[in-house]
Amino acid sequence: MLKVVDHAVVQKNLTRIRDKNIDRVHFRQGIIEIGRLMGYEYANTLEKKPITVDTPLGTAEGIEIDAMKNIVVISILRAAIPLVEGISKVFKEAEYGVIGAWRSEEPPFNAKIEYIKLPDLENKIVIVADPMLATGHTLNAILNEIKNKGMPKKIVIFNVISAEPGIEIIFKNHPEVEIYTCSVDEKLNQDGYIVPGLGDVGDLCFGKPCL
Ligand code: URA
Repeated sequence: MLKVVDHAVVQKNLTRIRDKNIDRVHFRQGIIEIGRLMGYEYANTLEKKPITVDTPLGTAEGIEIDAMKNIVVISILRAAIPLVEGISKVFKEAEYGVIGAWRSEEPPFNAKIEYIKLPDLENKIVIVADPMLATGHTLNAILNEIKNKGMPKKIVIFNVISAEPGIEIIFKNHPEVEIYTCSVDEKLNQDGYIVPGLGDVGDLCFGKPCL
Protein backbone atom coordinates (compact mmCIF):
# COMPACT_ATOMS: atom_id res chain seq x y z
CA MET A 1 0.00 0.00 0.00
CA LEU A 2 1.37 3.39 -1.01
CA LYS A 3 -0.17 6.50 0.52
CA VAL A 4 0.74 9.98 -0.68
CA VAL A 5 0.24 12.42 2.19
CA ASP A 6 -1.33 15.26 0.23
CA HIS A 7 -2.32 17.50 3.15
CA ALA A 8 -1.85 21.12 2.07
CA VAL A 9 0.49 21.97 4.97
CA VAL A 10 2.72 18.98 4.15
CA GLN A 11 2.82 20.00 0.49
CA LYS A 12 3.57 23.63 1.40
CA ASN A 13 6.52 22.47 3.54
CA LEU A 14 7.73 20.11 0.82
CA THR A 15 7.62 22.91 -1.75
CA ARG A 16 9.66 25.12 0.59
CA ILE A 17 12.39 22.56 1.24
CA ARG A 18 12.71 21.77 -2.49
CA ASP A 19 13.97 25.32 -3.10
CA LYS A 20 17.68 25.16 -3.90
CA ASN A 21 18.26 28.44 -2.02
CA ILE A 22 16.90 27.25 1.33
CA ASP A 23 19.32 27.44 4.27
CA ARG A 24 20.13 24.58 6.63
CA VAL A 25 18.01 25.86 9.53
CA HIS A 26 14.83 26.15 7.47
CA PHE A 27 15.51 22.89 5.61
CA ARG A 28 15.78 20.98 8.89
CA GLN A 29 12.72 22.75 10.31
CA GLY A 30 10.73 21.81 7.20
CA ILE A 31 11.69 18.13 7.53
CA ILE A 32 10.84 18.14 11.27
CA GLU A 33 7.43 19.64 10.48
CA ILE A 34 6.80 17.06 7.75
CA GLY A 35 7.70 14.26 10.20
CA ARG A 36 5.20 15.61 12.72
CA LEU A 37 2.43 15.91 10.13
CA MET A 38 3.12 12.42 8.74
CA GLY A 39 2.94 11.13 12.32
CA TYR A 40 -0.51 12.72 12.75
CA GLU A 41 -1.66 11.29 9.43
CA TYR A 42 -0.54 7.79 10.39
CA ALA A 43 -1.87 8.00 13.97
CA ASN A 44 -5.31 8.73 12.53
CA THR A 45 -5.33 5.27 10.86
CA LEU A 46 -4.76 3.40 14.16
CA GLU A 47 -7.58 1.67 15.99
CA LYS A 48 -9.45 3.99 18.35
CA LYS A 49 -11.12 2.68 21.52
CA PRO A 50 -14.07 4.64 22.90
CA ILE A 51 -13.62 5.58 26.55
CA THR A 52 -15.26 7.97 28.98
CA VAL A 53 -13.45 10.52 31.09
CA ASP A 54 -14.58 12.31 34.22
CA THR A 55 -14.15 16.06 33.80
CA PRO A 56 -14.43 18.43 36.78
CA LEU A 57 -18.06 19.00 35.72
CA GLY A 58 -19.30 15.69 34.35
CA THR A 59 -18.50 12.74 32.09
CA ALA A 60 -17.30 13.08 28.50
CA GLU A 61 -16.95 10.56 25.68
CA GLY A 62 -13.42 10.23 24.31
CA ILE A 63 -10.94 7.83 22.75
CA GLU A 64 -7.76 5.94 23.60
CA ILE A 65 -5.31 4.72 20.91
CA ASP A 66 -3.63 1.66 22.47
CA ALA A 67 -1.52 1.02 19.35
CA MET A 68 0.43 4.23 20.04
CA LYS A 69 2.05 2.36 22.96
CA ASN A 70 3.14 -0.43 20.60
CA ILE A 71 5.29 1.54 18.17
CA VAL A 72 8.99 1.38 17.35
CA VAL A 73 10.43 4.19 15.20
CA ILE A 74 13.68 3.37 13.40
CA SER A 75 15.93 6.19 12.27
CA ILE A 76 18.14 5.53 9.25
CA LEU A 77 21.29 7.53 9.93
CA ARG A 78 22.02 10.23 9.32
CA ALA A 79 19.39 11.80 7.06
CA ALA A 80 16.37 10.58 9.07
CA ILE A 81 17.32 12.36 12.31
CA PRO A 82 15.14 15.51 11.77
CA LEU A 83 12.28 13.43 10.31
CA VAL A 84 12.31 11.28 13.46
CA GLU A 85 12.41 14.40 15.63
CA GLY A 86 9.08 15.38 14.05
CA ILE A 87 7.61 11.87 14.33
CA SER A 88 8.60 11.73 18.01
CA LYS A 89 6.37 14.74 18.74
CA VAL A 90 3.38 12.50 17.93
CA PHE A 91 4.55 9.05 19.08
CA LYS A 92 5.79 10.14 22.49
CA GLU A 93 5.49 6.68 24.03
CA ALA A 94 7.27 4.89 21.19
CA GLU A 95 10.53 3.00 21.46
CA TYR A 96 13.31 4.06 19.12
CA GLY A 97 16.03 2.27 17.15
CA VAL A 98 18.83 3.38 14.82
CA ILE A 99 20.43 1.82 11.77
CA GLY A 100 23.55 3.25 10.16
CA ALA A 101 23.58 2.48 6.45
CA TRP A 102 25.17 3.85 3.32
CA ARG A 103 25.19 3.00 -0.34
CA SER A 104 28.06 2.97 -2.82
CA GLU A 105 28.31 6.18 -4.86
CA GLU A 106 28.30 4.40 -8.20
CA PRO A 107 25.97 1.92 -9.88
CA PRO A 108 24.74 -0.60 -8.85
CA PHE A 109 24.54 1.49 -5.59
CA ASN A 110 24.96 -1.51 -3.30
CA ALA A 111 23.96 -0.95 0.30
CA LYS A 112 26.04 -1.58 3.39
CA ILE A 113 24.68 -1.66 6.93
CA GLU A 114 27.25 -0.71 9.55
CA TYR A 115 25.45 -0.17 12.83
CA ILE A 116 22.21 -1.49 14.29
CA LYS A 117 20.67 -0.83 17.69
CA LEU A 118 17.02 -1.86 17.93
CA PRO A 119 14.53 -2.58 20.70
CA ASP A 120 12.40 -5.75 20.63
CA LEU A 121 10.38 -5.65 17.40
CA GLU A 122 8.15 -8.64 18.07
CA ASN A 123 4.51 -7.80 17.35
CA LYS A 124 5.24 -4.05 17.22
CA ILE A 125 4.22 -1.50 14.60
CA VAL A 126 7.59 -0.53 13.16
CA ILE A 127 7.93 2.85 11.45
CA VAL A 128 11.09 3.05 9.34
CA ALA A 129 11.99 6.69 8.70
CA ASP A 130 14.11 7.33 5.62
CA PRO A 131 13.54 10.66 3.84
CA MET A 132 14.46 9.55 0.31
CA LEU A 133 13.48 6.25 -1.33
CA ALA A 134 15.65 6.36 -4.46
CA THR A 135 17.13 3.08 -5.81
CA GLY A 136 15.57 1.17 -2.89
CA HIS A 137 18.75 -0.88 -2.31
CA THR A 138 19.49 0.55 1.14
CA LEU A 139 15.91 0.30 2.38
CA ASN A 140 15.60 -3.20 0.96
CA ALA A 141 18.70 -4.31 2.91
CA ILE A 142 17.36 -2.58 6.03
CA LEU A 143 13.99 -4.33 5.77
CA ASN A 144 15.78 -7.70 5.42
CA GLU A 145 17.78 -6.91 8.54
CA ILE A 146 14.68 -5.83 10.49
CA LYS A 147 12.88 -9.04 9.59
CA ASN A 148 15.94 -11.05 10.73
CA LYS A 149 15.73 -9.38 14.14
CA GLY A 150 12.06 -10.06 14.90
CA MET A 151 8.57 -10.35 13.50
CA PRO A 152 6.83 -6.96 13.68
CA LYS A 153 3.04 -6.78 13.48
CA LYS A 154 3.41 -4.25 10.69
CA ILE A 155 6.18 -2.30 8.94
CA VAL A 156 5.43 1.23 7.75
CA ILE A 157 7.94 3.32 5.81
CA PHE A 158 7.93 7.10 6.08
CA ASN A 159 9.58 8.83 3.10
CA VAL A 160 9.53 12.51 2.27
CA ILE A 161 10.03 11.69 -1.42
CA SER A 162 9.92 8.30 -3.14
CA ALA A 163 10.90 7.38 -6.70
CA GLU A 164 9.41 4.61 -8.84
CA PRO A 165 12.52 2.34 -8.97
CA GLY A 166 12.70 2.28 -5.16
CA ILE A 167 8.97 1.72 -4.72
CA GLU A 168 9.12 -1.18 -7.19
CA ILE A 169 12.02 -2.96 -5.47
CA ILE A 170 10.42 -2.59 -2.02
CA PHE A 171 6.99 -3.90 -3.06
CA LYS A 172 8.61 -6.75 -5.04
CA ASN A 173 10.62 -7.96 -2.02
CA HIS A 174 8.40 -6.77 0.84
CA PRO A 175 4.83 -6.63 -0.51
CA GLU A 176 3.31 -6.42 2.97
CA VAL A 177 4.89 -3.07 3.93
CA GLU A 178 3.06 0.25 3.76
CA ILE A 179 4.79 3.29 2.29
CA TYR A 180 3.77 6.77 3.42
CA THR A 181 5.34 9.45 1.27
CA CYS A 182 4.75 13.11 0.44
CA SER A 183 5.60 12.79 -3.25
CA VAL A 184 6.40 10.22 -5.92
CA ASP A 185 9.02 11.88 -8.11
CA GLU A 186 9.79 11.19 -11.70
CA LYS A 187 13.20 9.59 -11.94
CA LEU A 188 16.77 9.12 -10.69
CA ASN A 189 19.87 10.74 -12.15
CA GLN A 190 23.08 8.82 -12.96
CA ASP A 191 24.28 9.30 -9.35
CA GLY A 192 21.14 7.68 -7.95
CA TYR A 193 19.62 10.95 -6.72
CA ILE A 194 15.90 11.63 -7.06
CA VAL A 195 14.93 14.18 -9.74
CA PRO A 196 13.55 16.76 -9.12
CA GLY A 197 13.87 15.64 -5.47
CA LEU A 198 15.64 17.63 -2.78
CA GLY A 199 19.35 16.96 -3.28
CA ASP A 200 21.42 15.20 -0.62
CA VAL A 201 19.24 15.34 2.49
CA GLY A 202 22.07 14.43 4.89
CA ASP A 203 24.26 17.25 3.54
CA LEU A 204 21.35 19.73 3.51
CA CYS A 205 20.49 18.95 7.15
CA PHE A 206 23.97 18.62 8.60
CA GLY A 207 26.59 19.86 6.12
CA LYS A 208 28.94 17.90 3.86
CA PRO A 209 30.97 15.28 5.69
CA CYS A 210 34.73 15.47 5.17
CA LEU A 211 35.69 12.14 6.83
N1 URA B 1 19.50 10.34 -0.81
C1 URA B 1 19.35 11.69 -0.82
O1 URA B 1 19.73 12.37 0.14
N2 URA B 1 18.81 12.25 -1.91
C2 URA B 1 18.40 11.54 -2.97
O2 URA B 1 17.90 12.13 -3.93
C3 URA B 1 18.56 10.15 -2.94
C4 URA B 1 19.11 9.56 -1.84
